[in-house]
Amino acid sequence: MKKRLGILLSGRGSNFEAIADNVAAGRLDAEIAVVISNRPEARGLEVARQRGLHAVCIPSKGLDREVYDRMLAEELRRCRVDLICLAGFMRLLSAWFVREFPFQILNIHPSLLPAFPGLDAQAQALEHGVKVSGCTVHFVDEYLDHGPIILQAAVPVLEDDTVETLSARILREEHRIYTEAIRIVLSGRWRIEGRRVRILPE
Ligand code: GAR
Repeated sequence: MKKRLGILLSGRGSNFEAIADNVAAGRLDAEIAVVISNRPEARGLEVARQRGLHAVCIPSKGLDREVYDRMLAEELRRCRVDLICLAGFMRLLSAWFVREFPFQILNIHPSLLPAFPGLDAQAQALEHGVKVSGCTVHFVDEYLDHGPIILQAAVPVLEDDTVETLSARILREEHRIYTEAIRIVLSGRWRIEGRRVRILPE
């Protein structure tokens, strides 16, 4: 039986599209069971619908965090999701939610964590003056952009970079490593040692 992915997003959805392309091309042995957005205007939601995927909006505005997370969990369980992938989902998940799905939630972030968590990571990197940045796929815990790291990819920061050019360079790597991290997690060839995610040989 194919493993079932639940994608959570809030905006553009390019990471979701990269995952969906890899699923469609047979490069990722899984299926997308549901795409959920907390924002009705998210472009990713529209793209999911156009692709004929089950796409649901659960608006989060004005809702208490745990009340919202219980609604999310209900939909994910209804869709029998095995792995939850945050793809530009701009909301912190409650400790309750994280405990409900232990080591079943992944996030992608556009920096080499633990550097530059939170919003506008690429702008933070430029302002700080780092010479190398990149992206990180990690298990989600109750803290922002914080859980055990599965994969990272580095890119150079060039002298004439703007937020746009650096973001584009990082995004190409995001699209590559997110699928790779999902593949590793679904294969089960990993184990946790403290904060370290040990990837076992095939
Ligand atoms: C991506 O760059 C992702 O890494 C970032 O939001 C963007 C979403 O783009 N996520 C975070 O900053 C999480 N803290 P997308 O909607 O085109 O995938």
